[in-house]
Amino acid sequence: MLDWTDRFCRYFLRLISGRAVLYTEMVTTSALLHGDREYLLRFDPLEHPVALQLGGSDPGELAQSARFGEQWGYDEINLNLGCPSDRVQSGRFGACLMAEPKLVAECIQAMIDSVEVPVTVKQRIGIDHLDSYQQLCDFIGILSSAGCATFIIHARKAWLSGLSPKENREIPPLDYATVYRLKREFAHLEIIINGGITTPTACAKHLTQVDGVMIGREAYHNPWMLVETEARLYGGAQLTSNREQVIQRLVPFVRRELARGVPLNRITRHILGLYHGQPGARLWRRYLSEHSGKNGATAELLLAAAEQLIK
Ligand SMILES: Cc1cc2nc3c(=O)[nH]c(=O)nc-3n(C[C@H](O)[C@H](O)[C@H](O)COP(=O)(O)O)c2cc1C
Repeated sequence: MLDWTDRFCRYFLRLISGRAVLYTEMVTTSALLHGDREYLLRFDPLEHPVALQLGGSDPGELAQSARFGEQWGYDEINLNLGCPSDRVQSGRFGACLMAEPKLVAECIQAMIDSVEVPVTVKQRIGIDHLDSYQQLCDFIGILSSAGCATFIIHARKAWLSGLSPKENREIPPLDYATVYRLKREFAHLEIIINGGITTPTACAKHLTQVDGVMIGREAYHNPWMLVETEARLYGGAQLTSNREQVIQRLVPFVRRELARGVPLNRITRHILGLYHGQPGARLWRRYLSEHSGKNGATAELLLAAAEQLIK
């Protein structure tokens, strides 16, 4: 998620969830080919399994970008076919590519030919007036013939004009039944459902119909739901750590990053939701927000913030 799932956020989430596959923000091929690759691709080994999400529509550039991702050690390369922003459309990538299945198939083919790791897509159930079930099936069929075997499907369509990206995550209605139906009719494909999933119970319910669930906003705002979800799906033994242990384990990472010159609030902004729904949640958020930006703030601030909650 752009601006959210940077490497700091992912490191923190990995301390919370041992099993979830973590996804980068979308990185465009032009940024990767012409920009600061070290900055864009760097991640901590602890983050595995971690997928690199690419935005682009040129088969050659996507192939090269996928190779960079594999060389850097990413476990999966994912192509964004779901983002509806104007900026992304003018670059001819994201959700507008759902109108160009042949081009997308060429992109997928070129990426698959270039890397050993899985190449996956993240898409919508439709865009604009290309939103019939048959059109969705045709799209999936063409990509699957090109070699794509895993589809992460945001279970709502996107309107490419008239709605902001935020509205496109809220206004078009969720349609889980369509994703379930896809799984039934493309049983050999891995179908992962996304959109509006916020509880362990909902995850368990979806998993009776599809192969996986992707959780976006709730995992960011209420990361502890990942612990509860793992406990629900894999058994209580997973519930080994508590929030304070997560903070303890984060501190050495924060010290290392501060020593490299990273400002503390670039990391703490992602951990504000750790106590979501708990007594002291507001205190935690307020303490971190007030103090993280101060000159000379150190990693010990996290411990001090946690101590405030015990008092
Ligand atoms: C701030 C923000 C940034 C996002 N950036 C991306 C992105 O870079 N790539 C992507 O595939 N989806 C992106 N999304 C969409 C989410 O991945 C997800 O599909 C959407 O929020 C619906 O799932 P949810 O209800 O679990 O959040 C973003 C969402 C948000 C809120």
